[in-house]
Amino acid sequence: MSASTSSASKPSTAASSVSAAAFVAAIRETAESVEQALDAFLPVEEGPLGRVVDAMRWSALAGGKRLRPFLVVAAADMFDAPRARSIRVGAAVEMIHCYSLIHDDLPAMDDSDLRRGRPSVHKKFDDATAILAGDALLTQAFEIVAAQETHPDGAVRCAVALELARAAGKAGMVGGQMIDIYAEQKDFDLEGVTQLQRLKTGALIRFSAVGGGLVGGASADEIAALGAYAEDLGLAFQIVDDILDATGDAAALGKPAGQDAEMDKATFIKLLGMDGARTKAADLVERCKSNLDRFGDRAGPLKGAADFVFERKS
Ligand code: IPE
Ligand code: IPE
Ligand code: MG
Ligand code: MG
Ligand code: MG
Repeated sequence: MSASTSSASKPSTAASSVSAAAFVAAIRETAESVEQALDAFLPVEEGPLGRVVDAMRWSALAGGKRLRPFLVVAAADMFDAPRARSIRVGAAVEMIHCYSLIHDDLPAMDDSDLRRGRPSVHKKFDDATAILAGDALLTQAFEIVAAQETHPDGAVRCAVALELARAAGKAGMVGGQMIDIYAEQKDFDLEGVTQLQRLKTGALIRFSAVGGGLVGGASADEIAALGAYAEDLGLAFQIVDDILDATGDAAALGKPAGQDAEMDKATFIKLLGMDGARTKAADLVERCKSNLDRFGDRAGPLKGAADFVFERKS
């Protein structure tokens, strides 16, 4: 992470990112609140049904950067939304993210044995339990969004659920995962890889910023600006994930490295080379921040998140 650049050295008067240290403190604080919420949403149960809860907890309470909940909370904070509400939306998107990781790791998909530094859910439990734990996290996310505590206005809860459903389903993450698998057998051009990555990863990241705005009562214009920011951020996030897959090691990443080349995944690295992919991610990160200039200093944490996405090492 770089420290924020002094605005005096820039031609525009746009506010800059929070410092790297302030961002780290802020994402840690959000992560703690979200983990408490996830723990409370997933109480341990006795008997045979307890096994699926154990698997959900194995996935959801195993660390992770918690970037998506941070985006929800940071966006909602700009509109002074009560944290009790934004943390619920953050926990919901994190549950869907965890479900996507459980299924992504299955033998039928990426066949990854390691996730967040420990055995993936199907290795710790079994394939059937992993499928069910993913399904249960997906459905519980919507239960959380739909409950009165998320927002007193049912129309707001419905708007959040609608966006989340679109981001998670066939026009979002699931659709992207389908194209990702298909692309292992086909040659994809830049347009194809961009669409794949915007869907499989970008859609939930876009939801996170937009969902935060919705629960905070942002206007349609403000929601559009948050969406434009997070669309490019989501694409940059997946490009960096692919760079880390190619350059990192399993110990640092907490998940297998080198899988994309092994499986011949469609990535920007395959099409543009390592330097080209890095330049593309850097350009997207700079561009995405400009969508937030209208929010002034309030956007510092979201701009800090963009810097983090480019400079992260895991
Ligand atoms: C990994 O996401 C899967 C992708 C969408 C690239 P993250 O890198 O956010 O994983 P965690 O949540 O920090 O483990
Ligand atoms: C997965 O992309 C994105 C999801 C929707 C889970 P990857 O397959 O690259 O994610 P990692 O590298 O396993 O975390
Ligand atoms: Mg995958
Ligand atoms: Mg994978
Ligand atoms: Mg990857």
